[in-house]
Amino acid sequence: MISHVLGARPNFVKAAPVIAALSGTGRGQRVIHTGQHYDERMSEVFFRDLGLPEPDVNLEVGSGSHAAQTAAIMVALEKEFIERSPELVMVYGDVNSTIAAALVAAKLRIPVAHVEAGLRSFDMTMPEEVNRRLVDQLSDLCLVTSPEAVGHLAAEGVAVERIHFVGNPMIDTLLAHLDRFDTGAVRRAYDLPERYVVATLHRPANVDDPEVAAGLVKRLHEIAELVDVVMPVHPRGRRVLTEAGLDAHPRVRLLEPLGYVEFVAAVRGAAAVVTDSGGVQEETTILGVPCLTLRPNTERPITITHGTNRLVTADDVVPAVAEALAAGRGEGDRPPLWDGHAGPRIARVVEGWLDG
Ligand code: UD1
Ligand code: UDP
Repeated sequence: MISHVLGARPNFVKAAPVIAALSGTGRGQRVIHTGQHYDERMSEVFFRDLGLPEPDVNLEVGSGSHAAQTAAIMVALEKEFIERSPELVMVYGDVNSTIAAALVAAKLRIPVAHVEAGLRSFDMTMPEEVNRRLVDQLSDLCLVTSPEAVGHLAAEGVAVERIHFVGNPMIDTLLAHLDRFDTGAVRRAYDLPERYVVATLHRPANVDDPEVAAGLVKRLHEIAELVDVVMPVHPRGRRVLTEAGLDAHPRVRLLEPLGYVEFVAAVRGAAAVVTDSGGVQEETTILGVPCLTLRPNTERPITITHGTNRLVTADDVVPAVAEALAAGRGEGDRPPLWDGHAGPRIARVVEGWLDG
């Protein structure tokens, strides 16, 4: 039996095509939700939107400091893995649920497969970079979404037999649901104007420090002088951004976090996106929507070389939005193997490895 460990919003989007592809193999699967994300808008809505099977168990760990949250997930998962003895644990992305599961499985001598291995921002101030590096060292199968990740893993001493370039399951999900992303419907549902920019912010470096957050709010207000700004607010930044007066501008529209289908529909119809999300950099690459990423680096450089992504600072985000509005939507090249078939490729690698 294969146990999938999911905890946070992006995990659900990445796991859906993998679970679907493996369900065709007849092998038993168990979906474990750690409870890292728990609001209906951060969790359940994704299970509904993506047709994911209900979790077999929810460990309900909730929020906490990095140590408290990671430790709570580890303690609960150790019990779960001992009781169920999975033949493989599959982990996704770079969140605390990912490292907690990999560490527990490795100590119990249960093999680990990491989906989205090898991405590197080379910025150890990001908690995700710490998680990624450690998870890859602990993984028996490193399932890679982007060619440069192979080189990163090899440089860190990961044996080549463990590395498999399989493509991007997050893009499988996007392509599988393309017909459902109805921008008109989302415009009507939220009373959005014809032309708007979507903004999302949740990185600790942008939203944890009230001074930094207030600086970004000022920039978002300047953008709102050019174009309406629609912002589904992640719970992490909600208090700080609201206290900094984010909703004080009449052309800034704050929304609850959107479900997957509504969110991608909103992005699909946007004139541009301003974000610090990892997944959104990839989705805009495929949708051809200009993406301005408010970060000094990205672990997804292929979205710049092949896609519509550009890194910006707080100081250059406003002119960058103005340029994007003037230039209009672009067509990037599709990165290799971002073709909607990563889930089946992952299932074949996993099956082959388990049978071999
Ligand atoms: C986590 C991931 C991050 C990922 C993001 C996706 C880690 C270290 N970080 O960040 O890599 O990009 O998920 O969205 O794993 N909260 C709620 N309701 C929820 C969940 C969280 O209100 O359902 C609030 C809590 O106040 C919590 C805070 O958000 O303390 C942060 O949640 P947490 O899961 O620790 O990290 P994220 O910022 O969501
Ligand atoms: N997303 C969503 N609703 C929102 C914001 C994001 O459905 O309000 C989706 C987005 O399309 C992507 C995933 O959530 O598939 C990315 O999650 P997030 O930005 O929280 O995490 P990251 O990718 O930065 O780890």
